[in-house]
Amino acid sequence: MNYLGISAGFHDSAVSIVDNTGNILFAGHSERYTKHKHDKHLSIDIVTDALAHATSRDIEVHYYERPLIKYLRQLYSGEKPSLAHISAKQLIGKELFNKITDGGKVHTHNHHLSHAAAGFQTSPHNDATVVVIDAIGEFDTISIYNAWYENGIAKYKKLWGRHYPDSIGLFYSAMTKRAGLKPLDEEYILMGMAAYGNTRPLREMSNTLIASFSDVSFKENLHIGVPDDFIKGADDMDIAHSAQLIVEQMIMNVISKARMLGTSKNLVYGGGGVALNCLANRLLGEYYDNIWIIPNPGDAGSSLGAAALGYGKHLNWTDAYLGHNIPGLYPVNKLLDHLNTTGIVGVASGRAEFGPRALGHRSLLADPRGSEIKNKVNDIKRRQQFRPFAPVILEEYADTYFDMPKGFSNSRYMQVISRCRVPELFPAIVHVDNTSRVQTVPKDGSGIRELLEKWYVLTGCPMLLNTSLNIRGEPMVNDRTDADRFEKLYNVPVIS
Ligand SMILES: [Fe+2]
Repeated sequence: MNYLGISAGFHDSAVSIVDNTGNILFAGHSERYTKHKHDKHLSIDIVTDALAHATSRDIEVHYYERPLIKYLRQLYSGEKPSLAHISAKQLIGKELFNKITDGGKVHTHNHHLSHAAAGFQTSPHNDATVVVIDAIGEFDTISIYNAWYENGIAKYKKLWGRHYPDSIGLFYSAMTKRAGLKPLDEEYILMGMAAYGNTRPLREMSNTLIASFSDVSFKENLHIGVPDDFIKGADDMDIAHSAQLIVEQMIMNVISKARMLGTSKNLVYGGGGVALNCLANRLLGEYYDNIWIIPNPGDAGSSLGAAALGYGKHLNWTDAYLGHNIPGLYPVNKLLDHLNTTGIVGVASGRAEFGPRALGHRSLLADPRGSEIKNKVNDIKRRQQFRPFAPVILEEYADTYFDMPKGFSNSRYMQVISRCRVPELFPAIVHVDNTSRVQTVPKDGSGIRELLEKWYVLTGCPMLLNTSLNIRGEPMVNDRTDADRFEKLYNVPVIS
């Protein structure tokens, strides 16, 4: 038996497959196949790719939320949903569904429970307090659970929650739009802008919108955003700074509540863009020593959560390389040659990362030293100049260069920021507040590990600049054809 989990129909569609011994056979994001960021549709390409990794034709399909309940919430919020939205089969696409399973049925699960299962059942913990914070599930916006195993089966007991329209995620998206950015896409840019702003609009923002910080309730329904002239004249950077302070305070109130209500000392955290706020995540260690966030804590990751709920037990998590495969050995020596001569090279090798961060399999890598490299990489990426790139470092050297925040002994999936100890040496990978979103690589036998080791021997520098390999405006490169397009467009070699 294989358990196939699906997120589809709204945004960030994805497919995951788990076998009957807990191995994760495939986990992929639809956007990488269709080339539409956050695509709500699945395509025949991702389904075919996923099924090629299946080990059984006996497939049980698990969908990441309850369509009928979501339909009711959409009616309640005035969204005018299609009647087809009450059918998981329709949301998946009937033809694709029939390709996956011949005459099978779809098992549906609660949206926040799928987030919780994606986190807890991949975590190293036997018990955990699970916190889910996103924009909206069906009605849920925040959930706290006790999670444990009973005779090997994962159990969840909900302890506390908030419901639509009171939502930290909707607040942050509304502020993203207010700052002139694209909501449900560019929240990470708002987070990057926060370091440049100040608290000038904070009092008005909080007085106008927040009913209670401790209970996470709002005076307005922020699903529809705020007027464009909200806090008229306020600078976008100041909006970003103030919004970040508000979400940090609210998140920490929820985490403190979780510590009080939950029975476990381990935290599993997930949900939408909120759990990807690596700036806020630096604070989680105030309440927990052991923190696990799956590399894909949003709705795409919930495809794995749905499959996990189907399987019921702990999953054998090893790493995030779970998507499309570009076969062949990791091209360590070729990459090293390019880094040593031109200082910049692309890599598209092995299985694609499951999650929004490039972790060395679909990465643009560069020598991080000196002041020139940021402009050189930005000639390709064309990002806002104020945004830094990220470093990837041999894990044993992380403490030499960065102060890892409490609760995080490593940062293998780039989920938390840390303060750089020598920002003057690495201006390309350090933000204006001297922080970096580090990827630490353990002695795991991976290709990126070997590359970093050889780079260190050659240069004495244990890190590289690492940014996602993508054509501007497109999702990350998935297959070799994408890599060829990238090479042609930017005249940078992409090695497989
Ligand atoms: Fe969600």
